[in-house]
Amino acid sequence: MEITITEKEQKGKRPADSSLGFGTIFTDHMFNMDYSPEKGWYNPRIEPFENFSLSPATMMFHYGQAIFEGMKAYKTSDGSIQLFRPQENFKRFNKSARGMCIPELDEKFALDSLKTLLKIEKDWIPETPGTSLYIRPTIIATDPFLGVRASHSYRYFIILSPVGAYYAEGFNPVKIWISTEHVRAVRGGVGEYKAAVNYAASLYASEKAKKQGYAQVLWLDGVERKYIEEVGAMNIFFVINNELTTPELNGSILPGVTRNSVLHLGKKWGMNVSERKISVDEVIAAHTNGTLQEVFGAGTAAVISPVGEIRYGDKIMNIGNGKPGDIAVKFNNAITDIQYGRAEDTENWIEKVL
Ligand code: COI
Repeated sequence: MEITITEKEQKGKRPADSSLGFGTIFTDHMFNMDYSPEKGWYNPRIEPFENFSLSPATMMFHYGQAIFEGMKAYKTSDGSIQLFRPQENFKRFNKSARGMCIPELDEKFALDSLKTLLKIEKDWIPETPGTSLYIRPTIIATDPFLGVRASHSYRYFIILSPVGAYYAEGFNPVKIWISTEHVRAVRGGVGEYKAAVNYAASLYASEKAKKQGYAQVLWLDGVERKYIEEVGAMNIFFVINNELTTPELNGSILPGVTRNSVLHLGKKWGMNVSERKISVDEVIAAHTNGTLQEVFGAGTAAVISPVGEIRYGDKIMNIGNGKPGDIAVKFNNAITDIQYGRAEDTENWIEKVL
């Protein structure tokens, strides 16, 4: 398929790298493509970033049939531009699509068209270490219809946003709150898909957590409310008695690309790595007996995010000494060194754009 390109006349200006937060600034252009049952995916186009005009009856507004992905483009010190394991994101995007009754994309075309967009927007990619161009591919249901069923028509779009750190804390340890009352997802539901509704389902508890000074909610499983699942914006890792462990994928946890990269590197480095059920009781016991060495999150937006405090009911567990732990630092350095081209891409994770 040929991509139609319409360039914006008056180009915007990328703000200073030092002013970048997360997800507030958008580049000049976006990618759009539509789907109908008759035509399949059609009319791929890169055009100026602009508002959509959609019927108020558009199904996505009412029933939330929408999925997205998160990736980043990095500028290396020699000025080249690269992506980190984008094939994994498009594979997961299609998995999310299947789970949400959305038509799949051709993964090769999706990656090629993203690269075409990035080449046009290359000047928007920040250069300072820790900054990048966040990529948000999204598909929404577009039938103007109020009956409850899967939509017949869809819009696929990609928007780009120059970003700094996801958390205001940067790489300093964040505080997370285990919700005892609310659940994000249940096995058999849609928790393992990157579906917009999972994030909507997390908001009530997240707001409660924020009011108490916590950056995020650490979710327990929705059935027994006993086992650790994930943090919503990232997966979670524990180092207990020299074992690097993360909750096993059980159908209600997002299979993170960064999660997978941490597991891969940990095994390669000869660490004792496991994916298994981790109960909140085990974490409390490990904290009490001094074997809870480190806790950190892993995700595209957050990269590696050390956790310095976990609250469960009235119990507050402080982890480390207010500084990022050595293992979190080691993973963060190894992954970002590959992403920014400072280290050799020994795992074949880098996709060059330019
Ligand atoms: C990501 O890490 O890319 C995410 O999608 C998490 C969050 C910003 C929604």
